[in-house]
Amino acid sequence: MRVVIQKDFLSMSKWAAKLIADRINEFNPTPDRPFVLGLPTGSTPVGTYKELVALHKEGYVSFKHVFTFNMDEYVGLESDHPQSYHTFMWENLFNHIDIKKEHVHIPDGTAKDLEAEALRYEEVIKAVGGIHLFLGGVGGDGHIAFNEPYSSFDSRTRVVTLTEHTRRANSRFFENKIDLVPRHALTVGVKTVMSAKEVMILISGANKAQALHAAVEGPITQAWPISTLQLHKEAIVVCDEAACGELKVSTYNYFKALEEALV
Ligand code: GLP
Repeated sequence: MRVVIQKDFLSMSKWAAKLIADRINEFNPTPDRPFVLGLPTGSTPVGTYKELVALHKEGYVSFKHVFTFNMDEYVGLESDHPQSYHTFMWENLFNHIDIKKEHVHIPDGTAKDLEAEALRYEEVIKAVGGIHLFLGGVGGDGHIAFNEPYSSFDSRTRVVTLTEHTRRANSRFFENKIDLVPRHALTVGVKTVMSAKEVMILISGANKAQALHAAVEGPITQAWPISTLQLHKEAIVVCDEAACGELKVSTYNYFKALEEALV
């Protein structure tokens, strides 16, 4: 695992956006050989999306031959609902880059048959040859996508019930009213994320310090879904100083020294 510690949210976002753009450019995607990118929502990736838009506007990267797969969507929210993850993605990223609408994939939380939608989503990912780079955030309780604590490490896309912790955390987008936050979501599984060739997780802020500790130092346990990252061969955690409060000093120094030796 690579742990990249940046000064603050802005430098974390710039670092992550540059890595994504470089991976796309190195891959040199074509219509027959698209780059496949997994994407999250939440406040953490907003800065990275801003930087990606800037890199696109200055001509550094094109998304013309990039396919995207979003991690999750609330069950029951229409795609044009202001808090749907569809709306979030178009407002924060897709409307500002040259991606083709037909290359964007987001689970349909309004599908009549949600189980069928979940299976279809996995099939489409498989059909394009899997995900090259999955970008993710993490919940304060260690959840990835909407895989709450104790989700199986073997899970694939499915319907899940959100915990009170997650609904409370996300109620800030729903007028701070927990009752307005949907109770269920359609989410890729832990295994779906971990099957990507490379996984990059963004962790920012003191409220994520426990999650960063669990990701890097904690035991591998389904109680902290993020801890499964330790088993991935190409995992990168990009975090800011504020999130490092629960890391051992020796762990912090070790990863800092590793990155310094690279440049
Ligand atoms: C939601 C999303 C996750 C995200 C998490 C943390 O639950 N489903 O993908 O990682 O929120 O969000 P934030 O970055 O706003 O803290």
